[in-house]
Amino acid sequence: MIENLTLLEKAVLLTGKSVWETYDLPRHGVRSLWLADGPHGVRKQVGSADHLGLNASEAATCFPTASAVASTWDVELAERVGRALGAEAAAQGVDVLLGPGLNVKRSPLGGRSFEYFSEDPLLAGRMAAGYVRGIQSQGVAACPKHYAANSQELRRMVSDSVVDERTLREIYLSAFEIVVTQARPRTLMSAYNLVNGVYANESRFLLTDVLRDEWGFDGVVVTDWGGSNDVVAGVAAGSNLEMPAAGLDSARQIVDAVRSGRLDAADLNARAAEVLRLVAEARSPQDPAPAVDLDAHHALAREVAARSAVLLKNDDALLPLAPGTRVAVIGDFARTPRYQGAGSSAVNPTRLDSVLDVIDGSGLEMTAFAAGFHRAGQPDAALRDEAVEVARGADVALLFLGLDEIAESEGLDRSTLALHAAQVEVLEAVAAVNPRTVVVLAGGGGVEMPWLGSAQALLHGYLSGQAGAGGLLDVLTGAVNPSGRLAETVPVALADTPTAETFPATGRTAEYREGLFVGYRYYTTAGVPVTFPFGYGLSYTSFAYTDLTATPDAATVTVTNTGAVAGADVVQVYVRRTTPGVHRADRTLAGFARVELAPGESATVSVPLGDAAFRHWDTASGAWQVQQGTYEVLAGANVDDLALTVAVEVTGTVPAREDDVPQRYRTGDVRRVPEADFEALLGRPARVTDGTGPLTVNDALGRMADARSPLARLAYRFLAWRRDVADRKGAPDLNILFLLNMPFRAIGKMTNGMVSAEMVDGIVRIVNGRFWSGARAALRGFFRNRRANRATVRALRGTT
Ligand code: BGC
Repeated sequence: MIENLTLLEKAVLLTGKSVWETYDLPRHGVRSLWLADGPHGVRKQVGSADHLGLNASEAATCFPTASAVASTWDVELAERVGRALGAEAAAQGVDVLLGPGLNVKRSPLGGRSFEYFSEDPLLAGRMAAGYVRGIQSQGVAACPKHYAANSQELRRMVSDSVVDERTLREIYLSAFEIVVTQARPRTLMSAYNLVNGVYANESRFLLTDVLRDEWGFDGVVVTDWGGSNDVVAGVAAGSNLEMPAAGLDSARQIVDAVRSGRLDAADLNARAAEVLRLVAEARSPQDPAPAVDLDAHHALAREVAARSAVLLKNDDALLPLAPGTRVAVIGDFARTPRYQGAGSSAVNPTRLDSVLDVIDGSGLEMTAFAAGFHRAGQPDAALRDEAVEVARGADVALLFLGLDEIAESEGLDRSTLALHAAQVEVLEAVAAVNPRTVVVLAGGGGVEMPWLGSAQALLHGYLSGQAGAGGLLDVLTGAVNPSGRLAETVPVALADTPTAETFPATGRTAEYREGLFVGYRYYTTAGVPVTFPFGYGLSYTSFAYTDLTATPDAATVTVTNTGAVAGADVVQVYVRRTTPGVHRADRTLAGFARVELAPGESATVSVPLGDAAFRHWDTASGAWQVQQGTYEVLAGANVDDLALTVAVEVTGTVPAREDDVPQRYRTGDVRRVPEADFEALLGRPARVTDGTGPLTVNDALGRMADARSPLARLAYRFLAWRRDVADRKGAPDLNILFLLNMPFRAIGKMTNGMVSAEMVDGIVRIVNGRFWSGARAALRGFFRNRRANRATVRALRGTT
């Protein structure tokens, strides 16, 4: 078909037609595709469209978010969730579902941590692969995102992730490698940010050399919304589809680039053909998808919530609570659940259960409810005292604490890992009168827990979706034996995290100075104590591990349920190299297996190892290598509790040889890396730009704070004032945050053809104090764009 299309027709296939649709070519029988978020529920907007989750969407099941489901370490369950998401997407006529998100969690402060799986690429990649297989089994294309090194929300559209090649490969690309090679997603979303000085969407290295040539991806790369910088550079690098609607200006730029020789016609043909194939493979509108059983999906959401919850503490086996236990329910989150995150992933749920709604069916006897605190943190002694009163008489105080809606969000990194002081105060006051206090946490990630001593039991429910309340009660009562295991470390304090000094970066570059030492790789190598290690989670039964054997290809271990009730365990296998060689974290996850066991039952599981478990990226040869030598294979319950170890000799591909890096990268002493050490790791200057001077089209609107034009400064002050007013009300204005983080060029990319690149240049001139020349350019651009748009529409209709 590609041969029958005009140059312009091919070009329009590569740009969005509306916020959510691709271009159709009725003359050729090519229909539009509908793309919709998202990762834990379908968000199909049919009315007024935005990409920040602000306007209503069709109702859909809201499953627990990725950070919750990751705690199941259950790839099959991820696939079941994917199937349900795919079925709902198909029923709503969605062709591409924009998820899952699988960025590796570089810092627990990342505002979208709730949407991502893990600090470990193997776990993140495998869980994501489960989702993709499930979604695509329903005839809907999945769109893993955001490729790559998209770790912070602050200035997310203009931030440059500066990261050494080995770290990029081993940590940030590995998760995508797994999802692409194991699940064959039909689309993939490029990240907003730059990677080592090049926009991810314009990186030939990322999109062609690695993604297509090495991993064999043959699908469609979609830009993040408004994330296209230069559409021609994107297409040349291997990107297919600029979203949302940049208008016909982009299509004309592509046509001009082919005519002037800047873009190879073969590249355009290849990218357009991939879009056409995506359309051809999409569900036919003549074959509507079956209706969805929403009750069954609600039940699945409940099951997933229960299996995602991580039991972190259970002194004197306070849990599970027997039927008839008289519980005081305390905490605003029991009444108004925090069950999903804010931003593009926000789902309009089909139902929403709160603990107060469903506790009647749990077998527990609720004596009273007290809100205890204001969720946004304002202190209130009366609420606290009421909580203490209701706790006093009960058998057990069930305290629902968590992060409120503005603590974490797309567009907004967390500023602290602490819970609001008001919540901690209530916990301490309640525990003082009733030591049998159980804390149930809601939030997309971990929190500091200086208050842990006041809780006799602690269950982390993460963001547990629309049926989370029932799922958590199932765990509290023992209807479900908890089997969640942390997919991320809970550090003692923010100051202990490897990126404490550098995250989020506020300048143009985000320097990944910690290198490979992300999450547990850091804590275990540097010997930094944590509150709860990666992989940790309790059960109402106990497990023992025996008979570990290993070859370079696989480890085998026997797990026995040594307790009195049936339960599921996740046995984890890590690898450590003992022969000196290239620097490496002390332990890295090599595989895992989830087993369900009756009391007394044993199972022997085999965990594949192979090169992937031992490899490192060798920058000199530009290839994966395995160093010859002795490695230890360790198995057990979590990264800090590995009871069994065996040594294996690995022949490898290269002899063991130490690499030439600053000593701190051997010991994991990476919290304060001087620039010279980072540059030694990087092998080149870190290219730190100071961010001063006149603004460019690629500067964020937030930089108007110090623009030359008084008009621009006024515009900034207006936006900042709107942001602050919303923050004070406890409901951050995502639109404003988005605008402040958005570069000027995105004005052109997100206004459906109303604003051309020429007009954006004019606007930037105005901002830089050149009002008259800017205004002239903008006006000229306006009229030219209008004329050109009309001509392009006529050309597309075939009337010129
Ligand atoms: C987010 C993406 C999302 C897109 C469309 C962007 O702001 O980063 O994850 O899929 O919007 O809503």
